[in-house]
Amino acid sequence: MAKPILVANWKNHPSSLKEAADLLTTLSRRSMLYKKLSLYIAPPYTYFESVSKRIKGFANLASQDVFFSADGPHTGSVTPDILKSFGVKLAIIGHSERRALGETNEVVATKLKTAFIAGIVPLLCIGETSRDDEGNHLQFIQDQLKFSLEGIRRKEDAEKLIIAYEPVWAIGKRASEAMSPTDLAEMVIFIKKALTDIFGRDAADVIPVLYGGSVDGSNAEPLYKETGIRGFLVGRASLKSKEFCEIAEALISS
Ligand code: PGA
Repeated sequence: MAKPILVANWKNHPSSLKEAADLLTTLSRRSMLYKKLSLYIAPPYTYFESVSKRIKGFANLASQDVFFSADGPHTGSVTPDILKSFGVKLAIIGHSERRALGETNEVVATKLKTAFIAGIVPLLCIGETSRDDEGNHLQFIQDQLKFSLEGIRRKEDAEKLIIAYEPVWAIGKRASEAMSPTDLAEMVIFIKKALTDIFGRDAADVIPVLYGGSVDGSNAEPLYKETGIRGFLVGRASLKSKEFCEIAEALISS
C-alpha cells in the first residue's frame, strides 16, 4: 500500500537558518518514523541548500510555488530548473495565500503544466473561502478543479497529481475550528467525483487527496481515519517538532 503523505509548509518561517537547522536536527532524531511516510518539507527558498542536505534519507525537498515559465528572463522568480538543481520533488501550487495575492486558476493551470514538464510533482491546493447553507462552496470547488486543471488531460499527468483540500476558513485557526471529519469525508467524495468528470474513474481513483487547515497532534487521527484522505498539508504545526511527530504517528497508526 502507498505510504501516507505528509507535507510541511513552512511558509516564511522559521525566521533564521539557525532555527531551521535546529528544527531539522530534532526531526532527524525520529527519522525512522518519518521514513514510513512520503514526507516533504517546503522551506523558504533561501534555506534550500541547507535543508536539502539535512533531510537526506528521511524527507524530500518541496517548494511552496513554481514559476509558470520554464525559461526566459524573469527577475525575482524561481524557475523549475533551479528548483530541480536543489532536488525539489514536489511543488505546492495555488496555495490560498498566493491566490489571495492575485493568482488565478489560469495562472495555476500554467504552473501545473510547467511542473509536469519539469518532472516535479504538483500539489494543487483548492479550498473555498467560506460556506453557506445553499452549498455554493461545492460549485466553487468544482470550478477551481476544472479551471486549475485546464489543459491537463493526460492520464500519466493525472496519476502524478496530488490535491490538497484546504478550506481557507480553516487555515491558521485552532484545531477545534478545523474541518470536522464528517464534513471532510463528504468533501473527499465530492472532489473524487469532480476528478472523475475531468480524468475518468481510473485516473481519479489514484489521485491522492490531502487535507490542510489547522491540523495538529490533537485532530490528526480523527481527520485521517475513514475520511478518505491520504495525508496532510501542515502549516504551523510543522514548525513544532513534537506536534509534527504526533501528526506523523497518527498517519502511521490509523
Ligand atoms: P495551518 O496552515 O496548518 O497553519 O492552518 C495550513 C496551510 O496554510 O497550508
